[in-house]
Amino acid sequence: MMQKLAGTLCLMLAGSSLAIAAGDPTAGRAKSEACLGCHGIPSYNNVYPTYHVPKLAGQHADYIAAALKAYRDGQRNHPTMSSQADAMTDQDMADIGAFWQNQGK
Ligand code: HEC
Repeated sequence: MMQKLAGTLCLMLAGSSLAIAAGDPTAGRAKSEACLGCHGIPSYNNVYPTYHVPKLAGQHADYIAAALKAYRDGQRNHPTMSSQADAMTDQDMADIGAFWQNQGK
């Protein structure tokens, strides 16, 4: 009886960590509102001052999550992006990655 309960609990835990790895594009859309102003423009150049902004649409979700982690953890340094990534959880990054990966298809 106890053993069966422990087995069920394990399955539940495994299930929830899978959900984190997957990323939810719908949640990611809401979390990406603030990004659209810079990353959502067709020419991928800020109007003024003119500087290049990397294209995120269609980019692989894992790449986006890894880049955001690098900004948050200080492996990459960029004032804007570091402040964007500062408050994000790993789940936020997975969701945001899933959203952008689906764009531009
Ligand atoms: C004010 C403009 C601005 C906003 C807002 C912004 N970004 Fe960025 N983002 C940039 C710039 C500029 C870079 C390039 C930084 C560099 O050279 O490291 C960048 C880089 C990135 C990269 C790395 C891309 C690559 O190919 O290396 C990712 C991923 C990213 N941003 C995601 C986001 C997400 C997600 C948001 C919203 C939560 C966001 N950005 C909001 C301007 C912005």
